[in-house]
Amino acid sequence: MLHVNENYSKIKASYLFTEIAHRVSAHQAANPDAKIIRLGIGDVTEPLAPAVIEAMHKAVDDVADRSSFYGYGPEQGYAFLRDKVAAVDFAERGVDIASDEIFISDGAKCDCGNIQELFGDDVKIAVGDPVYPVYVDTNVMAGRTGANENGRYANLTYLTCDASNGFVPSPESANGCDIVYLCYPNNPTGAVATKEQLQAWVDWANANKALILFDAAYEAFIRTPGIPHSIYECEGARKCAIEFRSYSKTAGFTGIRCGYTVVPKGLVAYAADGSPVELRPMWMRRQTTKFNGASYITQRGAEAVYSPEGREQCRKIIDFYLENGRLMKEAIESLGYSVTGGGDSPYLWVDAKGGSWDIFDKLLKEANVVTTPGAGFGAAGEGYIRISSFNSRENVLEAIERLKGVL
Ligand code: MLT
Repeated sequence: MLHVNENYSKIKASYLFTEIAHRVSAHQAANPDAKIIRLGIGDVTEPLAPAVIEAMHKAVDDVADRSSFYGYGPEQGYAFLRDKVAAVDFAERGVDIASDEIFISDGAKCDCGNIQELFGDDVKIAVGDPVYPVYVDTNVMAGRTGANENGRYANLTYLTCDASNGFVPSPESANGCDIVYLCYPNNPTGAVATKEQLQAWVDWANANKALILFDAAYEAFIRTPGIPHSIYECEGARKCAIEFRSYSKTAGFTGIRCGYTVVPKGLVAYAADGSPVELRPMWMRRQTTKFNGASYITQRGAEAVYSPEGREQCRKIIDFYLENGRLMKEAIESLGYSVTGGGDSPYLWVDAKGGSWDIFDKLLKEANVVTTPGAGFGAAGEGYIRISSFNSRENVLEAIERLKGVL
C-alpha cells in the first residue's frame, strides 16, 4: 500500500501566507470595488535597481550568442558572484568568509528548509516564538516533532520573544538543544540583536557543541551603527553557525529568486561514534545532487547589486521602505499602540490589544488593509499584528488614514 508521510498531517492545512491570500481573495470577491492595500506578506513593490536591470539585459544578450552562451552553471554559484559576496558582504565588514564557503541558491527560504537534511532525525531544535513558519514546518515535515497542541509542537523548544526580553531570547533558554534558528533583524517582530546578544549565543553554541542557523535576510535594513549584519561578526561564529542571505528584500528579488548560504570550512556536526563530520562538503554534496544553480541571468543581476551604482540604488530603495515604516510607526504609536521594529527592519510588530485574527479580519473588512496576524507566527504572537513596509508611498499614506479610522 502507498503510505503518505504522516508528518504532513501534523501541520496546518495551508501555509500562513496562503491562508491569508485565501481570506483576502474571498473579501475581494465579496467586495469587487474594494481597493485593498496589501501590507501582509513581505513582498517588494518597487522595480529592480537600474544597474540590475542593465546587467540582466546584458546577460540575456550573452545567452543569445553562441560565443558567450552559458548552459548549466556551477551548482554552488558562479565565481563572479561568490567573489563579490565575499568581498562586499563580508571582507568589507572585517569578516573572514571565503568565496568557496558561499553557496548561491534560489533563495533563503529554500535553503532554510533544505539545510535540515544534513542533520539526524533526533536533533533537538529550538526556534523563537513568534517565528518565521518555514523553520518549524520543515522540521515537522521531516518528523522531528510530535503533534501540535495549543499552537506548539511537542519535541520542539520554543524561545519566547516578547517585550520582556526585547524580543531576543537568552541562550540559556535553549539549553539541551542542538540547533537553534535565529533571525535578526527579526521576522516577524522587526527587533534587532546587539553584538553582545549575538556573541552570547555564539559562546553558548560553542560551549554546547550546538549549531546556530542564522537567517540574515533583512540585514540590509540595518541603519543603527554597531548592530551586526552577520553572525560572523561575532568571535568564534565560524565554528558554530550557518548563515542565510537573500536578495529578495535587499535588491527586490522576491520574484527573481536568488540568495546564498554560508557554510564555513571546519564547521562540524558529529557522527554516532562522536567523530566530527564537516558540514560544508555535505552541503556541497546535497546541492550538487538536488540543485542545478540559480540561473546565469539571475546571478548577473545579483552581481550588479554590488557595483557602485547598484549599491547606491538598492540602498535608496531600502531607505524608501524604511521611510514607509517610519511613517506608519509614528501614526500607529500616535493612536496609543506599542510598536516594535520599523527602524532597522521592514516590519512593524504592533501590540494590537486584541486577538490577532480578529484584528486582522477587522482591518481587512473595515479598512481594506491586509496585515499578518501575529498568531500565525506562533502562540507568543497572539495579540499582535505584523505590518509590512513594502508598498508605494501613496498606498502607505492611504493605509495610515484608513488605520486611523479603524484602530
Ligand atoms: C514574510 O512576509 O514573512 C516573507 O516575505 C516570507 C518569505 O520571505 O518567504
